[in-house]
Amino acid sequence: MTSSENWISLARLADVAEGTAVAVETMGLQLAVYHLEGGEVCVTDNVCTHAFALLTDGWFENGMIECPLHAGQFDVRTGQGQGAPIEEDLRTFKTRIVDGDIQIEL
Ligand code: FES
Repeated sequence: MTSSENWISLARLADVAEGTAVAVETMGLQLAVYHLEGGEVCVTDNVCTHAFALLTDGWFENGMIECPLHAGQFDVRTGQGQGAPIEEDLRTFKTRIVDGDIQIEL
């Protein structure tokens, strides 16, 4: 059983519409919360690994986020970069929903 003190709440699931990504800042982290079509929720760092841009200012579709600055793409489930100019994958977080709260494990 996982200790609850390792999980923090980021947002209410009801406040993140399906098919959208929202920015959340907490505990010094800049995070992107994604509500995929079909209901799955994922969380990654929100700062692109290529240069400084917030991914939630980009385009989110079909589980992929496209950076607004140079159009690099990441798979939001795995954080995997999808080719140039991305050379480093995005950090992802273990995510769960508890009583309508989106939580990540730190
Ligand atoms: S800053 Fe994101 S692709 Fe360049």
